[in-house]
Amino acid sequence: MKTIGMASVLFVITFTAIVAISLNDLEAAEKTGEQLFKEHCSVCHPEGGNIINPKKTLMKKDLVANNIKTSDDVIKTMRTPGPGMTAFDKKTISDKEARNIADFVFKKFNK
Ligand code: HEC
Repeated sequence: MKTIGMASVLFVITFTAIVAISLNDLEAAEKTGEQLFKEHCSVCHPEGGNIINPKKTLMKKDLVANNIKTSDDVIKTMRTPGPGMTAFDKKTISDKEARNIADFVFKKFNK
C-alpha cells in the first residue's frame, strides 16, 4: 500500500511538471508581436514614440531617415541598439518573436 501511495505522489508531481512546462512553451509560442512589443518596447516607445530620443521614433519618416527599411533592420536594432536602448539577445527575444515584433512595428506605425 505504502509503495502505491509513493508512486501516486511521484506521478502527480511529474504530471504537474510536464503540464506546467508545456503551458509555458505554449505561452511563449503564441505571443503576438503586439504583446511582445508591449512587454519589451513600449516603456521607451509608447505609441511608437521614443521617450529618450524623440528624433528616433518608430514612425516611418524617422525609420527611413535612419535607414531602417525592413524587418531585418528592426531586428538588427534590437540585437545591437544605439545609445540608450536595451539590447535584446536571442534568449530574451527569439528570432521568431523578433520577427513578429518587427512586423508589428511596420504594420502599426509605418504610416
Ligand atoms: C530603455 C529604452 C528602450 C527600450 C526598452 C527599447 N528601445 Fe528602441 N530605442 C531607444 C532609444 C534611446 C533609441 C535611439 C537609439 C539611437 O540613438 O540610435 C531607440 C531606437 C529604436 C529604433 C530605431 C528608431 C529610429 O527612428 O532610428 C527601433 C527600430 C527601435 N528602437 C525598436 C525597439 C524595439 C522593437 C524594442 C523592443 C524589443 C525597443 N526598441 C526597446 C530606447 C529603447
